Amino acid sequence: PLGQSVLGIESSCDETAAAVLDGEGRILAEAVFTQSEEHARFGGVVPEIAARAHLQRLGGLVRGVLAEAGLGVGELGGIAATAGPGLIGGLVVGATFGKGLAMGAGLPFIGVNHLEAHALTARLPGLFPQAPAYPYLLLLVSGGHCQCVAVEGLGRYRRLGTTLDDAVGEAFDKAAKLLGLPWPGGAHLERLAATGDASAVKLPRPMLGRPGCDFSFSGLKTAVAQAVAKGLYRPQDIAAAFQTSVAAVVADRARHAHAMLPGATALVVAGGVAANQTVRASLAAATPLPLLAPPLRLCTDNAVMVAWAGLERLRAGQSDPMALAPRPRWPL
Ligand code: KG4
Ligand code: ZN
Repeated sequence: PLGQSVLGIESSCDETAAAVLDGEGRILAEAVFTQSEEHARFGGVVPEIAARAHLQRLGGLVRGVLAEAGLGVGELGGIAATAGPGLIGGLVVGATFGKGLAMGAGLPFIGVNHLEAHALTARLPGLFPQAPAYPYLLLLVSGGHCQCVAVEGLGRYRRLGTTLDDAVGEAFDKAAKLLGLPWPGGAHLERLAATGDASAVKLPRPMLGRPGCDFSFSGLKTAVAQAVAKGLYRPQDIAAAFQTSVAAVVADRARHAHAMLPGATALVVAGGVAANQTVRASLAAATPLPLLAPPLRLCTDNAVMVAWAGLERLRAGQSDPMALAPRPRWPL
């Protein structure tokens, strides 16, 4: 029913996004503005620039998706905005915008945890022939997050492991930078690796075989820096060896996560690194579980997932007070 439509807003990092779902969870409209060009020359996301860009873009994106959905704000059933974790400036922009709209129209507001939104995306109707039943495993591998989560129900998440240093996308970006590739470098590195020979360079595989499913990438990054400095190896070989190491580590961690949640029904991946074919193939072979990878636009930061998490929480009778404060740190 259209009366239960939800507007979702995402602004926790460097994607400004808005989306409208109907009450069944069907996508009526979605839009993402990716700021990476504005941050590229700094080699990473600059929080102040990000906050300003969210402020400049969000109004237009929201107007656009509402128009495309053919709905006025007053016809919505609720408004969901990411309230954390993430960069505080962007969170304040998105959450305040969402609250203002909700307050003006007398609608419930839902402050969504960004990680919860990634976790619930796989349940979006029609995305997979069958939505995964609880409990399932979520492997979140992005530029800002690297964790393994047991998704046991709405609002019931257990973090099984996380990174001790860099996120896996961050490791890709740092390795790419050492190889002279532009930021964000993950996809560039994958292309370079396709022409390389992984066996030509020996790189470590941090945490492989260790109990639990924590990650660590700083040692691998140092090894890449040393391999580059030696000047003995072809860049494509270093790229291929790096990617192979990461894929092996991620698969090993997924195996351990499955051992920690033997009743899991599926392994869901999210985050930009899920785009990497070597990582994906390695994950598909890591466990007997079905590997569910949402289409890339729903794996990376987007507002469809925020609206969907909002809709699930509204359906469960939940919403948040207008006093809800955005939280830069907000573990699941
Ligand atoms: O989920 P995402 O779009 O955004 C945030 O982290 O917020 O993930 C971006 C990350 C970047 O670190 C990027 O280099 C990495 O995902 N990435 C990839 C590939 N495509 C994007 N890493 C490896 N291989 C790829 N094909
Ligand atoms: Zn994200």
